[in-house]
Amino acid sequence: MQDDYVIKTEDLSKTYGWFIWKKKIPSLDKLNIAIPRGSIFGFLGPNGAGKTTTIRLLMDLIKPSEGCATVLGMPPDDVKTKHKIGFLPDAPAFSPYLSAYEFLNICAKLLKIPSSERKKRINEVLETVKMSEHVKSKLGGFSRGMIQRIGIAQAILNKPELLILDEPLVGLDPHGRLELMEIVRDQKKRGTNVFFCSHILADVERMCDRIGILYKGKMLCIGTLSELLSEKGTRLSIKPGHDNMAKELMVEALSCNKLPDGSWELVFPENNAILEKIRNTKEALAGAITVSASKESLEDFFFRKIEIAKKEKSS
Ligand SMILES: Nc1ncnc2c1ncn2[C@@H]1O[C@H](COP(=O)(O)OP(=O)(O)OP(=O)(O)O)[C@@H](O)[C@H]1O
Ligand SMILES: [Mg+2]
Repeated sequence: MQDDYVIKTEDLSKTYGWFIWKKKIPSLDKLNIAIPRGSIFGFLGPNGAGKTTTIRLLMDLIKPSEGCATVLGMPPDDVKTKHKIGFLPDAPAFSPYLSAYEFLNICAKLLKIPSSERKKRINEVLETVKMSEHVKSKLGGFSRGMIQRIGIAQAILNKPELLILDEPLVGLDPHGRLELMEIVRDQKKRGTNVFFCSHILADVERMCDRIGILYKGKMLCIGTLSELLSEKGTRLSIKPGHDNMAKELMVEALSCNKLPDGSWELVFPENNAILEKIRNTKEALAGAITVSASKESLEDFFFRKIEIAKKEKSS
């Protein structure tokens, strides 16, 4: 029977160093996660939380001090399973003397992609990451963002069952970030499971269906975004062309945003008297204003959780 979980860990722990040089505090402390198949999982945490350590353990690049993990139902050192994983490390460094094509060709050989399919597949992934015009250019002349795109291309080369990305958005311009989100969503559509860490919370919120927050080696919380982000106040959406009304209401709002299409989003505290009045205005009745429950943003949730964890540690 196929394992229902794409990644599962039991008390997975890592303390770096040896013998008397061993660090006193583990970098990863008894991590227990079970990520179901079919998800885009966002792994969050401040600098030094242990995200890259977890990824290295899952990729069998380092060994755990305690506990164990399965990836696609197998231990991380299973060679056949490694061929089903696409991996982008946190600071990819590729040989500067190879061209994009030569580098991807080596990756394709290592991944045992048949020689008859290699050229087509390499051109496909270069097209996906919008780097086709640089096929013959040497990697040494690429910018940080271009290297990141090549890193993503090699990660999806083998049409992986699981894609593990460590800070994939680093170095990408806003356009590149949107393109990456599109690539990740496309991967999910074709059945790929995605596990990635990032500090760009707004992008994580847009992309992921599940998240986990790690702090000082310990998991603070894990779940779907809809489970974790609590309802907070009431959202008022105002269609474009009603600026005067929005400006009148914003005085009492907790937050107020004018969106690029000219519409407005205002958040009010729950049971604010103004909401009752608005429900009966001609604008609301004509559908220019809609009232709905507002969710906490991932950014607010993240900082709230980290603050609570900091206070608990110091008390
Ligand atoms: N090779 C190593 N030797 C000793 N300590 C290490 C090593 N790699 C990581 N650490 C320590 O382990 C802890 C977790 O580091 P890790 O790189 O996993 O964090 P991270 O969550 O990926 O951080 P960032 O967001 O900055 O990438 C840190 O305290 C770091 O100093
Ligand atoms: Mg890291």
